[in-house]
Amino acid sequence: MQQALSSTERGYDLVATKFDRTPFRTPEPIVLEMAKQIGEVDDALDVCCGTGAALGPLRARARKRVVGLDFSRGMLDEAERRLATAPGTAKVELVLGDALAMPFQDEFDVVTSVGAFGHILREDEDRFLAGIFRALRPGGSFVFVTSEVPAATTPWFWMAHGFNAVMRVRNALLKPPFIMYYLTFMWPEIRATLVRAGFEVTAERDLFAKPPGADSSSQAAESFRTRPSSATPAVRRAPSLLRNEELGAYPRAILVRARKPRA
Ligand SMILES: C[S@@+](CC[C@H](N)C(=O)[O-])C[C@H]1O[C@@H](n2cnc3c(N)ncnc32)[C@H](O)[C@@H]1O
Repeated sequence: MQQALSSTERGYDLVATKFDRTPFRTPEPIVLEMAKQIGEVDDALDVCCGTGAALGPLRARARKRVVGLDFSRGMLDEAERRLATAPGTAKVELVLGDALAMPFQDEFDVVTSVGAFGHILREDEDRFLAGIFRALRPGGSFVFVTSEVPAATTPWFWMAHGFNAVMRVRNALLKPPFIMYYLTFMWPEIRATLVRAGFEVTAERDLFAKPPGADSSSQAAESFRTRPSSATPAVRRAPSLLRNEELGAYPRAILVRARKPRA
């Protein structure tokens, strides 16, 4: 109850010690496959890292430094506890900060964010992506997992829209707001927003259809390529989070790579 009346960061502070037992922690198969697809890098940043779901797998593949940023002190404390025994030799840094005002410039080969796009309002998407673009070295990539909007015939579609409606009412009536909405950063709508931010975008389907650990160079993988252009396509606003409930939707999960051009 206290959590429902809190700001987003306070809400996460309150749930932090129990968070890994909730359906809101990004499931292991997703973060493991994402890290595998990323491969070895020098420096990695995970934005809205929470208790560190992606930080562990990223550390195992990073040579120098893994940074997790989150605005909940409680979540960062849990991440610190869990990462103490995570495999790898990369230095781990946990930064208390706002994903919409990140202090990094040309520092990372890869930036990830999992299970957190629902906390980014539509009107903040450009600012969020600009911070990620700045944080990346030229040639570096923002990598994340999303999916398409589920069909209107599925319960998931109606559950997500119902949840969003309740949150809109809650946030109209109560302050501080708790920012959390489903069906944001969905493919393909998010492609236009990424291109507008300056990224070159590719996306791959079906990686998650295979058992974790199986070879991912499947012929079934479908790729899309777009380059930044001056003509910015209209962004259709689709209602984002890939959650445990969506494990059944693995075949629909899409791995997006948004690359910062070298020149
Ligand atoms: C659902 S949790 C996901 C945590 C983790 N990435 C995972 O997948 O398990 C969302 C996290 O985003 C953080 N968060 C939300 N909005 C944020 C913002 N504007 N700046 C920094 N962190 C934010 C919350 O504190 C929380 O830890």
